[in-house]
Amino acid sequence: MKKYNVAILGATGAVGQEMLKVLGERNFPYGELKLLASKRSAGEEVEFQGKKFVIEEATENSFENINVVLCAAENYISEALSPAAVKAGAVVIDNSSAFRLNDDVPLVVPEVNPEDVKNHKGIIANPNCSTIIALTALNELNKYAKINRMVVSTFQAVSGAGVNGIKELDQQISDINSGKTVEIKTFAHQIAYNVIPQIGDFDEMGYSQEEMKMQNEGRKIFHNPDLKVNCTCVRVPVYRSHSESITIETEKEITPEKARELLANADGVKLVDDPASKKYPMPLDTSNQDLIYVGRVRKDISQDNSLVLWCCGDQVRKGAATNAVQIAEVLVKENLI
Ligand SMILES: NC(=O)c1ccc[n+]([C@@H]2O[C@H](COP(=O)([O-])OP(=O)(O)OC[C@H]3O[C@@H](n4cnc5c(N)ncnc54)[C@H](OP(=O)(O)O)[C@@H]3O)[C@@H](O)[C@H]2O)c1
Repeated sequence: MKKYNVAILGATGAVGQEMLKVLGERNFPYGELKLLASKRSAGEEVEFQGKKFVIEEATENSFENINVVLCAAENYISEALSPAAVKAGAVVIDNSSAFRLNDDVPLVVPEVNPEDVKNHKGIIANPNCSTIIALTALNELNKYAKINRMVVSTFQAVSGAGVNGIKELDQQISDINSGKTVEIKTFAHQIAYNVIPQIGDFDEMGYSQEEMKMQNEGRKIFHNPDLKVNCTCVRVPVYRSHSESITIETEKEITPEKARELLANADGVKLVDDPASKKYPMPLDTSNQDLIYVGRVRKDISQDNSLVLWCCGDQVRKGAATNAVQIAEVLVKENLI
């Protein structure tokens, strides 16, 4: 079987570490494997599948002979290094938001729009994590009856802010429990025992950057430029898995029964919807796996052709690492690298 040389850019981060795990779990046919991070981590050793790998400092010269770069770093790093990787002949699958809305960059959720991968010019973008979770959950409903409008509230885990987000919640809980003053570095306020209705900076309309991604990226992935989304993003003191309350308005009615039937057969989705038995999606149940759990499906009693649901998914995995590896698998399957 043909092997592909893979580099993970940001291999020491929350998403990068998970990418390595997912490559192994899914038996991705990798040949050479390069683990790249900042100068700070260069020289550290990582064990993977019985072999030791040494983290290298990422530079423009890191991509010779590499076929696929799984990029799990901040925008400015991706902007600085992705063009060099493409120039060296690699395809970059980027988890940052740097290129997502560029016309020549496909934005792909493999369950929803895998065919868009074919249009790549070297960079393919992984969508925002909450957007991946919502659109994977909604895909079959949208195919049955086009979604015109969504009202979404997200409840986003601290690992969405990377390893520093996890450390901050740990540290604050420990400081509070030992009577120490809480230090705030990663989030706008104390996150322990709190919820913060801000992820990213606000625009002149009062929406945060994270909130606008659901509409901007949703339009591109669903190929629906008229999709309207009103989103509120909230950081919650949960370690892993984002949750979302979603109301959709569709061009024709989807009854809750029909919705459950569609969701039960949807790719990447698990229907968990038995409220009478206290069964519904929760982040503790959806972490460390790839399915988006959907439940609490019900009619919106305030509006015609509207449906309400609740979903949860592991944003480090399906919302980032797994989605990126799935895109790499499409490239392999379609002979695009
Ligand atoms: N966390 C999530 O749930 C999630 C979900 C979807 C998308 N994303 C996106 O994925 C990307 C990575 O997020 P993350 O949560 O994994 O962040 P993270 O845990 O903070 O990891 C950041 C990674 O970037 C590396 N890095 C920092 N400065 C660098 C430099 N100058 N050159 C090369 N590498 C450098 C870090 O290496 P060092 O260890 O050496 O500093 C680390 O490996 C971000 O764009 C984020 O928005 C994250």
